[in-house]
Amino acid sequence: MFKKIDHIGIAVSNLNEAMELYKKLGFEVKEIEEVAEQKVKVAMLPVGESKIELLEATSEDSAIAKFIEKRGEGIHHIAVNVDDIEKALENAKNEGLKLIDEKPRIGAGGKKVAFIHPKSTKGVLLEFVEG
Ligand code: CO
Repeated sequence: MFKKIDHIGIAVSNLNEAMELYKKLGFEVKEIEEVAEQKVKVAMLPVGESKIELLEATSEDSAIAKFIEKRGEGIHHIAVNVDDIEKALENAKNEGLKLIDEKPRIGAGGKKVAFIHPKSTKGVLLEFVEG
């Protein structure tokens, strides 16, 4: 069912500063995008077939702002690719897992995404990305 890790999301308080830092390490910034619905600005840094996703909050009530306030900057979520996101969500629901999104929403790159609650996944926020 899972093909690869699509990306690892890292919460940062200043996206420009974080991008400069990662560039120094040799990473390339491929796309920068604002996802208004999630109140974040994201930068994608390819790592082979996967990516690192740097996330900066664009509003104080963004989930990323709350995360940084509570836990500081750092790994925020892990995203895996699924062929059929509706099916993957239905399966998770049938297994009694706690979902953040009952239905997929549109995330970075216009892709269908959905989050599984960290309470159901041993403290790690898990994101499904279709495709
Ligand atoms: Co993500």
